[in-house]
Amino acid sequence: MSHLAIRGGKPIRSKPFPLWPVFGAEEESELLQVLRSGQWWVNACGDVADPQAVSAAKTTEFARKFAAYHEAAFGIPCSNGSAALEIALKAMRIGPGDEVIVPPYTFIATATAPLHVGATPVFCDINFDTFNLDPAKLSAAITPRTRAIIPVHFAGAAADMDAIRAIAEKHGLAILEDAAHAHGGGWKGKKLGGLGAAGTFSFQFSKNMTAGEGGIILTQDPALAELCESHVWGGRNPGRPWYEHHRLGWNYRLSEFHAAVLLGQLSRLAAQTARRMENGRSLNARIGEIPGLLPLQLPAYATTPTFHLFVMRFEEAAFGISRAAFLAALEAEGVPCSSGYAFPLYKNPLFLQQEFYPSRGHANSLGPILPVDYAAFAETCPAAERACRDAVWLEQRLMLASREDLDDVVRAIEKIWQHRTELQGLEALPR
Ligand SMILES: Cc1ncc(COP(=O)(O)O)c(C=O)c1O
Repeated sequence: MSHLAIRGGKPIRSKPFPLWPVFGAEEESELLQVLRSGQWWVNACGDVADPQAVSAAKTTEFARKFAAYHEAAFGIPCSNGSAALEIALKAMRIGPGDEVIVPPYTFIATATAPLHVGATPVFCDINFDTFNLDPAKLSAAITPRTRAIIPVHFAGAAADMDAIRAIAEKHGLAILEDAAHAHGGGWKGKKLGGLGAAGTFSFQFSKNMTAGEGGIILTQDPALAELCESHVWGGRNPGRPWYEHHRLGWNYRLSEFHAAVLLGQLSRLAAQTARRMENGRSLNARIGEIPGLLPLQLPAYATTPTFHLFVMRFEEAAFGISRAAFLAALEAEGVPCSSGYAFPLYKNPLFLQQEFYPSRGHANSLGPILPVDYAAFAETCPAAERACRDAVWLEQRLMLASREDLDDVVRAIEKIWQHRTELQGLEALPR
């Protein structure tokens, strides 16, 4: 009889790994305060703003504390991480005719935020060792229309900010950090999110800090902060009549309930990040010894990797079985895992069919806005293509495991390695 759980053997793991979300007395107390106060919403913009209510609001307190934790001067809470990217681009006055460089191995919002402001996303490949933007390929993606670069700190490890900044400065481009995976993450000892013109975070359910939904924009620039705030508040300006609107804003507000939960979550962030780092580094060292499993590299500048995901590259030839068989076997051993993004963003029907604004025929001062051949990025982004074929993801809640729990992850992988011949020749197995 086979030893592998997928072949009827006993799974390494029968009890669950740490559950997510983690919450307790802090979140309960903050939430109850909001509930009982009746102050479920606070007017922070317009002529009727009550400065006392605004400064007592949970959204204000959270914005201040989250920004301070990330060494940023301003924090503007909003409804989610996708909106945060869009608001930041609007405040940076990026629009039709402008190009924004984005990686193709990320969540869709990184690339569709430029589309939502009428700009054109242009894909630049990632580095296969880090899954972050490859600065060596950035210059080739720059045209006279390029206005900004959105590096994603993928899985919570810093992108190569020295190299990206040098190129951005040379070409006069703004940097918008997508730090949706990187709460509390660091680059050369500094916090991520406050390094460029703006940085954005998500508090969606899977993220390292969550209120179910939510987002925030960080910036060091007071003028940009004011514009972001106005966009979140339907285009209002502070001190001006409530029904006077100055720009095309929207209702992107975060509720007081969300901010209450996030205050509780923020109080756990440092300890949780330390645990994720310890576990992530330990897994890196232990799994890296198994042939065919290459954890992502952590460059020295990625000083506080937050391990939003633990990512390995699976080499089928070296391990001797298909990635699909490995994933199915690992799941059967009781370790939740996935293959991540099935294809790079530019292969989405959205891009291939160009179902978006600006429609063809628009122009700006640099001439007509021509359609982009998104299918062609498959040629210039080989690392992203390979990442989609090879990646194995473990989710962040596993990184909160105890030492003994983590040992089970390693034992499960070692077991599959030892019994791999039982899975040879199989493309995929029933889960
Ligand atoms: C890299 C990245 N950017 C942006 C977002 C968007 O965040 P939200 O889901 O809060 O809109 C996500 C969420 O999955 C993400 O992973």
